[in-house]
Amino acid sequence: MTRFIGKRALVTGVGRGIGRAIVERLAAERADVVVADIDATQAEAVAAAARDSGGTAESLPLDIADAAMVERAAQRLGQLDIVVANAGIQTFAPVTELSTADWDRVLDVNARGALLTLQLAARCLGPGGSIVTIASIQGLLPNALSANYAASKAAVLSLTKSFAAELAPRRIRVNAVAPGRIDTELSDYASAEVGKLTGQNAAATIERRIATNPLGRTGRPDEIAAVVAFLASADASYITGECINVCGGDVML
Ligand SMILES: NC(=O)c1ccc[n+]([C@@H]2O[C@H](COP(=O)([O-])OP(=O)(O)OC[C@H]3O[C@@H](n4cnc5c(N)ncnc54)[C@H](O)[C@@H]3O)[C@@H](O)[C@H]2O)c1
Repeated sequence: MTRFIGKRALVTGVGRGIGRAIVERLAAERADVVVADIDATQAEAVAAAARDSGGTAESLPLDIADAAMVERAAQRLGQLDIVVANAGIQTFAPVTELSTADWDRVLDVNARGALLTLQLAARCLGPGGSIVTIASIQGLLPNALSANYAASKAAVLSLTKSFAAELAPRRIRVNAVAPGRIDTELSDYASAEVGKLTGQNAAATIERRIATNPLGRTGRPDEIAAVVAFLASADASYITGECINVCGGDVML
């Protein structure tokens, strides 16, 4: 498919995992992709790989939690058609031991970072533009041991709907994707941390997740990228303010 010929997209948090898969998908569908990550080296590696595969991509060093840096990026970027707010981090602790430092760190990147990315998108997109945020099913149904992350992703879902309502008159659509457990370095880290806090090994925590998943498996980054591409495209032209859970049936609303 070549749904994004002539479209310019910004994707954040692209150095690995889901963000990288989103870049690969958008570039394969012929978008001109701006590849943004706090890790400049990784961002350039992902942009170079997209170019090597025949796509058009440039890298942009960007900390989405840094308002001044996002402001400079917005000025430099100019006109965009698609923005994917993907960057996010997670920490783990029982609620009774959750530190204010970890609360601030995760909320700064996931919630404030989403706000700043959405504000950048509102400036750079015109009519027909599309924004996709990456939330989490934990924003709907929090798991134990990561309350700051769950709260931050609930904020992402809420911001998505607020921006959808306010940008609809400008014909800009705003939607979210809420992944379940997707195989990335972040989810490997999550399994290890939960394992440490519960006295299980990481493999046992993954097996438990798989045993309770209706489709009986974890997900792949390209399965998130496919839904992001759908929401970003004209195939989703009458969808806004929506969240699609991509989680093998973990959440059925
Ligand atoms: N993997 C999962 O199971 C899962 C499930 C639900 C939601 N998510 C969400 O999907 C998104 C991507 O997750 P992932 O598993 O690919 O994560 P990951 O940790 O593998 O990759 C995250 C990327 O974001 C970048 N990043 C971190 N902080 C940043 C910042 N301040 N500014 C810019 N870039 C930054 C990192 O350098 C990295 O390249 C995150 O928002 C995450 O919360 C992931």
